[in-house]
Amino acid sequence: MKETILVTGGTGFIGSHTTVELQNAGYEVVIADNLSNSSADVIDGIEKITGIRPAFEKVDLRDFDATEALFRKYPRIRGIIHFAASKAVGESVEKPLLYYRNNIISLVNLLELMPKYEVKGIIFSSSCTVYGQPDVLPVTEESPIKKAESPYGNTKQINEEIIQDTVKSGSPIKSIILRYFNPIGSHPTAIIGEMPNGVPQNLIPYLTQTAIGIRECLSVFGDDYDTPDGSCIRDYIYVVDLAKAHVSAMTRIMEDQIEEPVEIYNIGTGRGTSVLELINAFEKATGVRLNYKIVGRRAGDIEKVWGNVDKANQKLGWRADTPLEEVLATAWRWQVALRERGVM
Ligand code: WQD
Repeated sequence: MKETILVTGGTGFIGSHTTVELQNAGYEVVIADNLSNSSADVIDGIEKITGIRPAFEKVDLRDFDATEALFRKYPRIRGIIHFAASKAVGESVEKPLLYYRNNIISLVNLLELMPKYEVKGIIFSSSCTVYGQPDVLPVTEESPIKKAESPYGNTKQINEEIIQDTVKSGSPIKSIILRYFNPIGSHPTAIIGEMPNGVPQNLIPYLTQTAIGIRECLSVFGDDYDTPDGSCIRDYIYVVDLAKAHVSAMTRIMEDQIEEPVEIYNIGTGRGTSVLELINAFEKATGVRLNYKIVGRRAGDIEKVWGNVDKANQKLGWRADTPLEEVLATAWRWQVALRERGVM
């Protein structure tokens, strides 16, 4: 068995899929989550997929003493993957202090405790939102950071700077910052997947809920953008491919292959897909016709962004290679499974 990795936010969408891939790669996993936006049932799902039940601790990482107790209880933790954060863009505009306290204090607590408990490295879950609307596409890791459009996006930028400053101050830790594009899809077993609270804000859960009849109609937020078909373009990455990027990054730290104290990677497919192209791909992949209509633009949406992912491909030896239609089929299978289980 390899080292023990603490996965904060591990009962969430990306955290649960990453736990599965860490276990598949031979790592021991401890999940810490406050269950504010996920359910402990996910632990059963992970065990069902891998046959290994990860340790689970219900913890609020804003509480320094409770966080320190984690490292005391699990002294073999050598790495952290930090997903735990509030992540609803719109909500962050209404409740900025909740976002600054939760997203920043939790990271500060972890960084402060790492040297004391010989935790070697931390992988931070960042986002392409730090780039805003890039001037040049595809966007590279050297592209300028733009002023955040929301407190949520600002906490990602601030946390990246906190990590850089902590390492510069001489802290003996290593860090890899992963800037995700748009994670979509669900595990091929349909045992775990994306479970939005209430009305989904993100495109794919709203799309699959419309396809299955929970939602009446999908609104496409604008078709008057400067793009080939007028709808917004994003880089949609399969959540399992994204999870595997975390394993590659953690192994890079654990096996002392990391070349800088802090490394930053774009984690995407390197390809842009418009909303309308995605709808067509979904209908082709599933044979399900989607009811949608074009409406006005959504405030805060950027027009188009997709990543240059050469650095991750080369340095991490990782590539997102699952075809989009296959990914959309997993999202649909997950929605059907939720219906069959009477969940929604
Ligand atoms: C994608 C596209 C919408 C819903 C956000 C966060 C990002 C990350 C992913 C956390 C846009 C369009 C959407 C709908 C639509 N989150 N859309 N109808 O805004 O690119 O990114 O989620 O890490 O940090 O910023 O994702 O899925 O909301 O939107 O037309 O009902 O789909 O306009 O073009 P977004 P999204």
